[in-house]
Amino acid sequence: MKKELLEFKKHVEKYDFKNLGIKFKYNHSIGVMKIGNSIAKKLKLKDNEVYMVTLACLLHDIGRFDQLKIYDTFNDKKSFDHGDYAYNYIKKNNYLRKYTDDTTYDTAILKSIKYHNKFKIGKCNEIELLFSKIVRDADKVDILLNDGFKKFSEYETNELEISDSVYNKILNEKDISYDDTNNKLDRILLGLAMIYDINFDCSFSFIKGKGIVKRVIGFLKAKNKNKDTLDKLNIIEKKLEEYIERRVNNGKKV
Ligand SMILES: [Fe+2]
Repeated sequence: MKKELLEFKKHVEKYDFKNLGIKFKYNHSIGVMKIGNSIAKKLKLKDNEVYMVTLACLLHDIGRFDQLKIYDTFNDKKSFDHGDYAYNYIKKNNYLRKYTDDTTYDTAILKSIKYHNKFKIGKCNEIELLFSKIVRDADKVDILLNDGFKKFSEYETNELEISDSVYNKILNEKDISYDDTNNKLDRILLGLAMIYDINFDCSFSFIKGKGIVKRVIGFLKAKNKNKDTLDKLNIIEKKLEEYIERRVNNGKKV
């Protein structure tokens, strides 16, 4: 992917590379590319499919750079849907031709980028669905591994309570939508509950042993003074750890 990385860097360099947000999304794109490549290989895709889905992973957040430049935010509600924007940008500029002459997978790449940030994957055929699942898994794994610190830095000692819908969804292994959340605590838990939306057992190998749940829940417990919340956080921690363990073990059987 050397040539592709150079092309992508050339694109990002049109923006202010000193801006931390730009740098963060550039590194995230590369992280997602590496993870997606490895998932595709674990799933034993054909070589050209591995290449194409790796490319989709690299380009999945290309809408973020204009989003930050124009609106100075990564909040889609305050600007534009960055998946839709990327889809239109790539299409309009024939941007995939900078990377490959093979047009066979254009729709799969475009749709996986469009759907990567949606609550659920939209209408797809088989290959589009496979690409979408891989891009979404790689994106979530990279976010779980590397994100959160900014959110944490703004998080102060509190007595917040976990909203019922958030708590019940976590215990029932359902991913949480933004509409379920009422406070900062809920929104950090939303980030953790993303693991329920990870498609492939093999994607769990990246987060296994990294202590992500323990670290995040430990942080929340240290900051919270509400007895009921602390009890719930302990239960959530156990639930999420068990879920990860189960998916990792399923992956081993394949
Ligand atoms: Fe994204």
